[in-house]
Amino acid sequence: MKNIDSKGHVTGKSIYLDDIPLIQGTRFGVVFDSPVAHGTIESINYSKARAIPGVIKIITHEDIPGQNQIGGIIPDEQLFASKEVHFVGQPIALIIAESDQIAFAARKLIKIEISKNDVIVDPREAQQKDQLIIPPRTFELGDTKNSWENCAHIFEGQADSNGQEHLYIETQGAYAVPLENGHIRISSSTQGPTAVQRITARVLGVGMHKIEVDVVRIGGGFGGKEDQATPWAVMAALGVSILNSPVKVVLSRLDDMRMTGKRHPYSSDYKIGLSKDLKILAYETTFYQNAGASADLSPAVMVRTLFHGTNSYFIPNVKMTAYSCKTNLPPNTAFRGFGGPQGMFVIESALSHAAKELSISTHELQKINLLKDGNEFPYGQIADGVELNSIWRKMESKFDIKTIEKEINDFNANHSDMKKGFSLMPVTFGISFTKTPMNQARALVHIYTDGSVGVTTGAVEMGQGVNTKMLQIAAQIFSITPKRVKLESTNTTRVANTSPSAASSTADLNGKALEKACNALMDRLKICAADHFNVSSHDVAVKDGVVYTNENQTDLTWDQLVMMAFLKRICLTENGHYATPKINFDMDKEKGHPFAYHVYGLALTQVTLDCIRGTYDFDSVKIVHDFGKTMNPSVDFGQIEGGLIQGMGWMTMEDLQYNNEGQLMSNTLSTYKIPDIYSVPKTVTIEPLDTDGNDMAILKSKAVGEPPLMYGIGAYFAIDNAIKSFNPIFNSTFDAPFTHEKVLMGLYGPFDSE
Ligand code: MTE
Ligand code: HPA
Ligand code: MOS
Repeated sequence: MKNIDSKGHVTGKSIYLDDIPLIQGTRFGVVFDSPVAHGTIESINYSKARAIPGVIKIITHEDIPGQNQIGGIIPDEQLFASKEVHFVGQPIALIIAESDQIAFAARKLIKIEISKNDVIVDPREAQQKDQLIIPPRTFELGDTKNSWENCAHIFEGQADSNGQEHLYIETQGAYAVPLENGHIRISSSTQGPTAVQRITARVLGVGMHKIEVDVVRIGGGFGGKEDQATPWAVMAALGVSILNSPVKVVLSRLDDMRMTGKRHPYSSDYKIGLSKDLKILAYETTFYQNAGASADLSPAVMVRTLFHGTNSYFIPNVKMTAYSCKTNLPPNTAFRGFGGPQGMFVIESALSHAAKELSISTHELQKINLLKDGNEFPYGQIADGVELNSIWRKMESKFDIKTIEKEINDFNANHSDMKKGFSLMPVTFGISFTKTPMNQARALVHIYTDGSVGVTTGAVEMGQGVNTKMLQIAAQIFSITPKRVKLESTNTTRVANTSPSAASSTADLNGKALEKACNALMDRLKICAADHFNVSSHDVAVKDGVVYTNENQTDLTWDQLVMMAFLKRICLTENGHYATPKINFDMDKEKGHPFAYHVYGLALTQVTLDCIRGTYDFDSVKIVHDFGKTMNPSVDFGQIEGGLIQGMGWMTMEDLQYNNEGQLMSNTLSTYKIPDIYSVPKTVTIEPLDTDGNDMAILKSKAVGEPPLMYGIGAYFAIDNAIKSFNPIFNSTFDAPFTHEKVLMGLYGPFDSE
């Protein structure tokens, strides 16, 4: 089935927040934010801004009827700064005006005096000064301390990866309208409608039942709207509660880039020990996560770094410690992979380091250390259904790694100022929210009396195609054409208490809830037909809109059956509830079985370097990916391609820069470059691994949203390998992204100043 949104997207008919027709009297909010990264507000003078015709109200912390508190995991974040400011871009007030142009003009006239405090932008400095969001956490397996003496080779180093701007096409925003009796309806560009509802209720000091949140779809989230869509929606709702008129708050691109948090930069230390026969015996690492000025989702992101710290390898002795470090940057947040990529970058750096010292190819080391069924992850889960070895074999048989390596060596021997390199990047990613209670979902299904169907789930469509998958499930179970099924907007009054659409689990959780609801309705209808034909309900089936008994076609249609059931007063509505079975995690022991299953894959990346300019082109990326049994190949292949390119952007060109004053320097699309058609690989080949799939996955079709991002890590090491064949004294810095500047330095360095 084609993505049900493709036509609407290419014709511009799909509805996003900005396409919602405005109610007369709608007001527009623009956020006034801190120009200083750390300090105490001494005075703010709003009088000139207020004097502009068309400015209606400037809302500050003093106007909040409930709590001035939007923290999700930890209550450490104000909606509007009251006294202290902790990052450049921190909201201080909302200017509400008749148009956003007026509000923007007013913003320029606000005078603020802030006495400055010391600014910390470096996570290691924060850790030294004991500025931590939560106490550190450690995952341990075996005994590293007593393992080092058994190691034939030990290597230590540092590996850093930078942040990443989400750059969803649709910026953050919300539109809130007043209903009767003080109720408010919010249309929000959010991955987490319930988060918006909960925090709005808290700030307004009302019950959650007074706040309705509706999402038709969002123009990309990538994690950036799991938590950080909330403040703008709360501000709009606050405006509604004060003015009793509709209020729309949509961030401009520059405001969005400045005010919102991003992927967490990490700085990490590693120590890896190998046996004589190159098995990894011991691995220790310390992760310094740059959390920004408040917790947001950082504690959860930090643990996923630990969960994926050993990536696709079995290591018997492991000790990994992570610090969530408080700095004066915007609070960093979820971003596709959710800390996993940052952890994987470090172990891949350690392996690359070891391979270089041992004068072997990294992929030899990778291959002999791959995880197998029965191995224990550092968090206690026992690996099963591991596909890494079969994936590796498939890569070798399809693409002949030896020949590729030989061709590259030949090319390099024959070219002095062009060099090629390649890398292999295995990925093992755990599917489930790491916080077990979040793994639940609901779906509401109505069969209308004409046989058509309405479906609401807690899933938010953000481009990942989840609505198409939901529609497929309902149409398949009822055996009717997808045209007769409508996917309703995601709405907190129809499906409540939802987890955000995140953790790649949206289709699994909501799809399983939907499957249960549809099956329950189907069972009811079958009993009704069985009564009618005087057969057992087990002998009733519906195929392509027609009822069958004992595999014989009857003259009863689906539509007639539905009407028959209705006349018998059988309920044609069902609410399905799903909670992932088996999973658990004990935070005291840091052990458990947190993931429903794992997704596996392998990427082979080839690059050509221009050794005069330091520029590079990716010749190809070849991927063998474990889809289980994909329920929608075109949607899933799209996720692989998009995830790969987003990961490659993070590893190569997206150069997020803050100065020491905590100001974002890469604050526009001219200074922050993401991959375009010229920087993507010339070819991307995706080979699905045929497996039986996993019963914990919806229709055995494994989650696919985040895992492919980590294939992009291969880009870093392909470049690193290519530089080595030009410059034999090159010192890998393991400092992503590998920008052209860094490549040039690598080709001709090391320099004294380094
Ligand atoms: N794909 C598109 N087109 N847009 C997005 O915002 N978000 C990613 C991924 N793929 C995203 C996307 C992230 S961060 C996650 S967690 C998953 O989709 C969420 O959707 P899923 O759970 O349905 O896979
Ligand atoms: N993944 C993504 N988002 C989340 C998670 C997770 O494991 N936990 C909380 N939010
Ligand atoms: Mo995705 S980072 O879990 O929204």
